[in-house]
Amino acid sequence: MVNTFICIFHIAVKSRYLPDVKIPQEKIDEIRAASDIVDVISTRLQLKKRGKDYLGLCPFHQEKTPSFSVSPNKQMFYCFGCHRGGDVIKFVMEYEKSSYIEALEILAERAGISITRTEEAYEAANETEKMYNVMSFAARAFFANLTKTTEGEFALNYFRERSFTNQTMTTFGLGYSLRGWDSLLKKAQEEGIDPEQLEKVGLVRRREDGGNYDTFRGRVMFPIFNTNGRVIAFGARKIYEDDNLGKYINSSETPIYHKSKVLYGLSQAKDAIRERDFVVLVEGYADLISVYQAGTKNIVASSGTALTTEQIQLISRYTKNITLVYDADSAGANAMMRGVDLILEGGLDVRIVQLPENEDPDSYVRKNGGKAFEELLKRSVTFIDYKANEFQRAGNFDSPEGKAEAVRGLVQSIAKIGDQLKRSFFIKEVAEKYNLYESMLYSELEKFTRRVPHKFVETAKTEIPEEERATNKRKVLVSEIPLEEKEILSAVFEDPKEMIPFIFGNVHPEDFSHPISRKISELILSVFDETGEVDVNHLITMLTDDQEKTMVANITFNRYQLGERWNKIGGKVSETRLYESAFGAIKTLKKKRLETELADNRINMKNASMSGSDTIPFLKHQQEILTRLKEIDGLKLMKG
Ligand code: CTP
Ligand code: MN
Repeated sequence: MVNTFICIFHIAVKSRYLPDVKIPQEKIDEIRAASDIVDVISTRLQLKKRGKDYLGLCPFHQEKTPSFSVSPNKQMFYCFGCHRGGDVIKFVMEYEKSSYIEALEILAERAGISITRTEEAYEAANETEKMYNVMSFAARAFFANLTKTTEGEFALNYFRERSFTNQTMTTFGLGYSLRGWDSLLKKAQEEGIDPEQLEKVGLVRRREDGGNYDTFRGRVMFPIFNTNGRVIAFGARKIYEDDNLGKYINSSETPIYHKSKVLYGLSQAKDAIRERDFVVLVEGYADLISVYQAGTKNIVASSGTALTTEQIQLISRYTKNITLVYDADSAGANAMMRGVDLILEGGLDVRIVQLPENEDPDSYVRKNGGKAFEELLKRSVTFIDYKANEFQRAGNFDSPEGKAEAVRGLVQSIAKIGDQLKRSFFIKEVAEKYNLYESMLYSELEKFTRRVPHKFVETAKTEIPEEERATNKRKVLVSEIPLEEKEILSAVFEDPKEMIPFIFGNVHPEDFSHPISRKISELILSVFDETGEVDVNHLITMLTDDQEKTMVANITFNRYQLGERWNKIGGKVSETRLYESAFGAIKTLKKKRLETELADNRINMKNASMSGSDTIPFLKHQQEILTRLKEIDGLKLMKG
């Protein structure tokens, strides 16, 4: 009755490891030729095309702005942040923490190139690999218990009652652990697996007397996969009345399972996440499976832990957009609030779906179906609206004090956003929503963002070398580059051929107020004059200063991070509106320059009048400036 199941767990593939075996040079060349670096890397992290090259978030160090670049022409990668770089083999070695030979093995397998394997190599499989193999064995055993034993029928019925189809059970490799105390132990012994190996991955526990017993007994099993689809842990749910342990018990932490760094369902969801460019985040195993089965496949679950920074980092390899769907109870609301701030801090965008009272995602799709769930996703709200609603519900808007507190709460979340451009849009949104001055919100914002840099605190205690202090100072400066200057440079990098003549036909490098943006625009202009084009990565290599390099990478990617959904919020940065965006920024830049000139002129005029000199020239100059300001206001964009 259950032979519609196909086991998804590979029978412990003869090792991927060939520690002492030499691979002939021709073979290595063949593997290298069959492994395009962009293809290989882009299945592991999200890359965006940037001129000739690709850029993404570096997998080797924590970063929020992408500085990891991949060149298809050179078949090389390089990170401007941590300065790691090399060819495709080097990448796999670093990324998979593997040896040279293992990296070749992985690439060969991907390319369908065979390397002869030997029995000795299998024996020599390293510790980690053994753990994966034991986990895979257990997953197969649990799956067989569910689908092929009489005892498993109760568990199978449990899943059927939850409306999980056979296909779904197969996709997620669901299983059942038998009730006996040593069922898994015995089965392992038959396959020649040591109890010690089972213990290492938390599948068996040790008794006082030294004997072992199965950790999971009489429970339905949810294997937890890593991003490469290998089983690294299990979640086990209670199904019998007389089971006195918690509703869910989970694998303990092991060398292959760090629960704060794992998202349930990611290996099944990653393609859909990339494709739809957003991910739905839920709390439970069952929530995830039901929603996935109903058709929304871009979904992951935090499963039993509060959302962590590492999990957000993990998501950011696939998308920058997270939609939170948590239970509508107060625990869910709290988790949501914390999650929102953490996501904003991580530089990602977040939207929120509120479920009806007493529903979780699983119960909701079972009642209303997949289409209704997609509709819910469409009606997701920004974190501003979500927080505002929560404050409203708490009765905050009934008094001026409460309202002030609510607005402050919103600004506090906005302060978590690192990107100034994004921040400014949200400030605008709040200002419009509550009819407040933006300037007032900015000064409120400053209270939350004005943090003494760590190193400065230390300076007070111990003397820091002059050089280091200088870098600190410059770091502060970078964040002070005015928005419009960033926008102009960003437009340049977006489409240099179109934008450089347009922009620098209207402004000069010396119009930029910030030394870094001035220097970068001077460089852009001179490279363009010389070669007729500007390549961002080439430009970065020409800069000697690290801060400036970072700055360019940062500006280049700002535009990308403001994805499609961003535009809906009112961003003026969609690709088709590049000209308008650049034009607006140019206007602002020019106006600011004139306003400074105006202020200077006023002071000069005042001085002149106090010293009894002629003020007429200053008045005339003032008139000129005012006229020019008016002209700028009236300027209309004319292309081509
Ligand atoms: N969880 C856990 N340990 C528990 C309870 C919950 O690890 N004792 C985790 C599980 O990953 C679970 C998630 O928290 O899926 C959400 O818990 P809860 O909402 O209580 O369960 P549901 O997901 O609704 O589970 P079910 O529908 O199976 O009852
Ligand atoms: Mn549930």
